[in-house]
Amino acid sequence: MIELKNLYKTFSSELRPMRGIDLTVETGTNMVVLGRSGTGKSVLLKSIVGLLIPDRGSIKVAGTEVVGADPKTLQMIRRKVGYVFQSGALYDSLTVGENLMFPLQKTLGMKGPEAVDRVMHYLERVGLPDKVNKMPSELSGGQRKRIGVARTIIVEPEYLLYDEPTTGLDPGTTKEISELIVQLRDDLGITGIAVTHDPYCLHIIADRIAFLDEGKIVFEGTPEEGKHSDIDFLKIFFTLESSAA
Ligand SMILES: Nc1ncnc2c1ncn2[C@@H]1O[C@H](COP(=O)(O)OP(=O)(O)OP(=O)(O)O)[C@@H](O)[C@H]1O
Ligand SMILES: [Mg+2]
Repeated sequence: MIELKNLYKTFSSELRPMRGIDLTVETGTNMVVLGRSGTGKSVLLKSIVGLLIPDRGSIKVAGTEVVGADPKTLQMIRRKVGYVFQSGALYDSLTVGENLMFPLQKTLGMKGPEAVDRVMHYLERVGLPDKVNKMPSELSGGQRKRIGVARTIIVEPEYLLYDEPTTGLDPGTTKEISELIVQLRDDLGITGIAVTHDPYCLHIIADRIAFLDEGKIVFEGTPEEGKHSDIDFLKIFFTLESSAA
């Protein structure tokens, strides 16, 4: 379970992305966080892995407090919580295979044939086994994104944070990545928080949704409840979603 309580973050008097955020994500479920561009969705995800430190409040991952945690605890949290960056964040000087091998060695100490098998397994899961020896510069934007997903999930973390996992992908790849997020929940029991503006992705993955507005979660519930809420953003969103589905 991930529990956020009364989180605050102020960058400047006009820039206050978190102003009392409360959110609970139950184990084995996928939560989708919605919100306008620049409202603080990435700030929220980064806070959970300690990449950004809130001014006050509490973040508990499986009962462990992240806010104010010592470096050792933070390292343990980062091992448990995978982060799929908005950009993909691959190492440009390493091949695709080496990009996947890197977290396996560093985080799990895995090498040799076992590691190679795992790399190939996850490349197959994202549909790109033939790219193992390519450099990231030889990939399309969508392919980089899929490799970024593979590199995060290869260490099989208990929690996954996805920052716009399908933005910019074609519909077929969007479907594959979304289905992969569902499989990770169902096969490995992974708890996920995804930020997405993509109605199709939300439709496939979301058990629950949360809407972030003016520094607070102003709605939390099932997608069905969101559809019938009186919040304009959600009404428009779900109108788009039904025309996309
Ligand atoms: N490290 C930082 N220092 C100062 N300001 C920051 C920092 N990180 C984010 N911000 C600001 O906080 C606000 C929220 O940023 P964030 O990246 O969380 O938005 P977002 O909701 O993810 O937007 P998008 O949908 O465009 O990705 C923005 O105005 C951004 O400029
Ligand atoms: Mg963002």
